[in-house]
Amino acid sequence: MTTPKIAVVFYSATGNVAALAEAVADGARKEGAEVRVRPVRELAPPAAVASNPRWQAWVDDNHYDEHATLDDLEWADGIALGSPTRFGGPAGQLKEFLDSTGGLWAKGKLLDKVGTAFTSSSTKHGGLESTILAMNNVLYHWGAIVLPLGYSDPHIMESGNPYGGSFVSRRSAAPDEEALAACRVQGARLARITRYVAAGLAG
Ligand SMILES: Cc1cc2nc3c(=O)[nH]c(=O)nc-3n(C[C@H](O)[C@H](O)[C@H](O)COP(=O)(O)O)c2cc1C
Repeated sequence: MTTPKIAVVFYSATGNVAALAEAVADGARKEGAEVRVRPVRELAPPAAVASNPRWQAWVDDNHYDEHATLDDLEWADGIALGSPTRFGGPAGQLKEFLDSTGGLWAKGKLLDKVGTAFTSSSTKHGGLESTILAMNNVLYHWGAIVLPLGYSDPHIMESGNPYGGSFVSRRSAAPDEEALAACRVQGARLARITRYVAAGLAG
């Protein structure tokens, strides 16, 4: 049986999206996937980071020692993109990484990847869907197969966002079980569908 290779590539300033990324990864691993979980690089000036103690603490203390690279994207059969909602769209840090994929795109190396997206915003109507849809736009241009979360599990009727895993951070200090469970469903679905696609492409 094909082992799907999944890259979870994300940006997080204060840890919420990182927790969602780990839940997506857990869901994919439970489906038997090989998983890389990688944040993109912080690009904000030190003064901006220092202006927010939670941001500074995350930059100083997070446990990730490998950042996402283009090799991770080429390696993966399936890709999950995660970003906090920033003024209704993805963070510039993630966009900068995605904007560096032109070389892979030109060689057709991103075609037929299965892609999905997840996010966190402060408020319920603060742009969860618009952020996920904006990340998905990149997947369309890559020629990836865009995978929504859908109401693929009864749990999503509770968490309520078929576009992708999402957490409203005003609700609690860190992602709650409802948001984490939705992300685990998303990771498992990504691994499952990616397995079919990878096996089919391998002939
Ligand atoms: C510059 C900036 C812009 C933001 N824009 C939005 C927004 O448009 N809507 C919203 O609900 N929350 C917004 N937020 C809040 C973040 O999306 C939210 O705190 C998120 O949970 C942070 O995720 P992280 O801990 O992974 O960085 C913004 C935060 C910052 C710093």
